[in-house]
Amino acid sequence: MLAGLSCPAEKLDPPQTQPAPSVERLVLFFSGDTLGSLKPCGCSGGQLGGLEKRPAIFSEVPASERLLLDTGSLVEGDREQDLIKFRILFRAFSLLGYDAIGLTQRDVEIAESLGLIAGQQHPFAIIGSDGEQTGVERPASFSRSFRLNGGELAVNVAAFDARSDTAERAAELFASAPRDWRLNVLILHNSDPGSVLPWTQASGADCIVCTSTTDEPQQLSEHGARPLVFTVGRFGRHLCRVRVALSAAGTPTLEWTDISVTEDLPDEPALAQLYRQYQQIVSDSNLLENYPRVPLPDGLRYAGSKSCQPCHLYEYTLWGSKAHASAFATLVEVGSDRDPECVICHVVGMDRESGFISAQRTPGLKDVGCEVCHGPGSQHNASQGLALTVEPKVACLDCHTPEKSSGYAGHEEEYLEKITHWWEP
Ligand code: HEC
Ligand code: HEC
Ligand code: HEC
Ligand code: HEC
Repeated sequence: MLAGLSCPAEKLDPPQTQPAPSVERLVLFFSGDTLGSLKPCGCSGGQLGGLEKRPAIFSEVPASERLLLDTGSLVEGDREQDLIKFRILFRAFSLLGYDAIGLTQRDVEIAESLGLIAGQQHPFAIIGSDGEQTGVERPASFSRSFRLNGGELAVNVAAFDARSDTAERAAELFASAPRDWRLNVLILHNSDPGSVLPWTQASGADCIVCTSTTDEPQQLSEHGARPLVFTVGRFGRHLCRVRVALSAAGTPTLEWTDISVTEDLPDEPALAQLYRQYQQIVSDSNLLENYPRVPLPDGLRYAGSKSCQPCHLYEYTLWGSKAHASAFATLVEVGSDRDPECVICHVVGMDRESGFISAQRTPGLKDVGCEVCHGPGSQHNASQGLALTVEPKVACLDCHTPEKSSGYAGHEEEYLEKITHWWEP
């Protein structure tokens, strides 16, 4: 069932030579729009997502009775860290036993640039949007047959692009499917609820998965309507499950459910190990040292929290007893202390010249130090404190975002009280 990208498939795979397996039930699992979110950061409790949690959900159904499909949009951009994540996701799909991945045009370009397609074998089929605009040929579609309730059903999966393809082309492709009883699954990239209508009318799909615009999955079609239209939600926080039943007349009926990938699900060891490998690759790639840094205004420089200690012993000591002073140690504990995506909020000035570079080169700028809130201290220190510090002191929201600090909004006063390190008036 391995589909290569080399042959432009305007036809679905030929019928299987082996008899279709007989199954009690059939369940399709969908993921997609992962956008580089391999794992939640863990900044606050109750976060959803994580590749290592998916097996606990998939394993509810025996492997022979399920299909695992990803709808693409693997990463957010094409920076070096995105490319590392892309490779990791390909390995994750293998470990997780995915059947087919529907790559977007951009995914296809990245996969090609990384050498993941030409001449490569993967245990999952790669299908993709048409490349009329990109010069990449249409990758093959995916088809697998099952004997269900005594009938034979072919599940056909294809990916199209709502901007550059037409519903009629999808209909042609599905019409070439080898079985009488079909379940046609259409992954529709670059689509929104506004552009999906012609596809629901003319593509011949029984099930259409659109591009997500929200973190949570959404069923866009009316309950029980055909085709079933839905999104899988962003950042891998949810999966979608579609149970397939076959009526006596051979018509498949579909039941859609949204499943949250919750924190309490067990971690699968091989996937947890893959994440540690990712952390190691990020570390070895020196992304932290090479992060682009812009100059500070007015020739200011960071001086480090220790430089404040001699004149502000009271404030320094109090700060040292609170959470901000151990923010970097927290990252070391989880192995993300060399990941710029994490470090940026757990240190002083990572994106500024004279700011944090690495624990070895700039040990004094670890943690949420004084200068995060009071600004770079060079002039204040040199003037014996006469030149005022420069920053607004209450930019808490820069880091205490709803995503990273779900408890902050609405509790600003309590948060401020918890960091008190100044003489009360
Ligand atoms: C540069 C990013 C950043 C800024 C700006 C920031 N914080 Fe934090 N804050 C953190 C991080 C990271 C932690 C977690 C530290 C840890 O536990 O390792 C944290 C933890 C805290 C905690 C402890 C939470 C708990 O439940 O124990 C409080 C309280 C807090 N911050 C309040 C504030 C307030 C008030 C402001 C604004 C005056 C502020 N923070 C500004 C990054 C920041
Ligand atoms: C936008 C800023 C930001 C980024 C980016 C960020 N964090 Fe945090 N992190 C915080 C804040 C703020 C807190 C404190 C949250 C609170 O207590 O309300 C925190 C807390 C934590 C904690 C402590 C949780 C606890 O219960 O003590 C861990 C662990 C953590 N972050 C890990 C990470 C990792 C790993 C990454 C990268 C994948 C990351 N953070 C990226 C802002 C950030
Ligand atoms: C998370 C942000 C944050 C960090 C980190 C922080 N401060 Fe503050 N600091 C504040 C806030 C907020 C106030 C009090 C409110 C105000 O005066 O606007 C304050 C007040 C002060 C004051 C009293 C200012 C006055 O006008 O009376 C001093 C001095 C001070 N901090 C020094 C330090 C030193 C030294 C450190 C590091 C050891 C530090 N701060 C770390 C946010 C921070
Ligand atoms: C050489 C001594 C000295 C050093 C070093 C020093 N300060 Fe000060 N600081 C002072 C004096 C003096 C004042 C003004 C009187 C006061 O409020 O105590 C002051 C006032 C402040 C204030 C309140 C007034 C304002 O500017 O907003 C803050 C905040 C502050 N310092 C933060 C820091 C931070 C952060 C550092 C380290 C980067 C630091 N100071 C290093 C001596 C120093």
